[in-house]
Amino acid sequence: MANSESLVPPQHIAIIMDGNGRWAKQRGLPRTAGHAAGAESFRRIANYCRTLGVKYLTVYAFSTENWKRSQDEIAGIMRLLRRYLEEALRDMEKNRVCFRFFGDLTRLSPQLQKLCLDAQSRSQDYDVQVNFCLNYGGRDEIVHAARAFAEEVAQGKRSPEELTEGLFENFLYSAGVPDPELVIRPSGEKRISNFLLWQSAYSEYVFMNVLWPDFTPEHLDEAIAEYHRRNRRFGGT
Ligand code: FPP
Repeated sequence: MANSESLVPPQHIAIIMDGNGRWAKQRGLPRTAGHAAGAESFRRIANYCRTLGVKYLTVYAFSTENWKRSQDEIAGIMRLLRRYLEEALRDMEKNRVCFRFFGDLTRLSPQLQKLCLDAQSRSQDYDVQVNFCLNYGGRDEIVHAARAFAEEVAQGKRSPEELTEGLFENFLYSAGVPDPELVIRPSGEKRISNFLLWQSAYSEYVFMNVLWPDFTPEHLDEAIAEYHRRNRRFGGT
């Protein structure tokens, strides 16, 4: 078990689950096997977050750009999500994990959309809230929010002068969820890749040289320790 006693975790951690494809390639396996191992890694880390007392865990499960992948790979990821959500719905009380979904779900299969809506509607104030980013892009989220605000202006419910950062946040997929203090990207890549563009304005980024399927609670401890070493100033001195 990881040694976390002395570390107070951030209340919200976000993770770009990257490196599944490379993990599979190193083993001569199909990419879908990498995603299956990635889903196991997610289970392990979500459980560990609960042990640590992390309140929100946001993960990038499928981006607006991931539709460019092969049909086979897309179907594999969707199958894993479906399986996970079916299981999670069954064990919600026991696991004390609840769910939100960030992204435009209308492009998902009706079956997966239903699972997402069921999971979201049954979500109570459990120990951990997992936010799945599904068909999600940070720019898409901002455009979606701007459109929703503009519609309210067009209907005469609001005026443009009313718009503040605080009000705009209510139109984002993440409305009501505090910004992540820590964003982790494993796999060695050092990019944001359209993830939580608005919400991570002041987040600490930790990039790690481990592929997501190999990511362990010890890696999470390491990222949290790095976060604690940072001096967060939010633009002040
Ligand atoms: C990025 O790695 C990963 C994805 C695009 C998919 C992530 C999905 C999962 C971990 C499974 C979802 C299911 C659950 C239950 C969480 P990559 O494929 O881009 O890796 P590479 O850069 O090495 O090719």
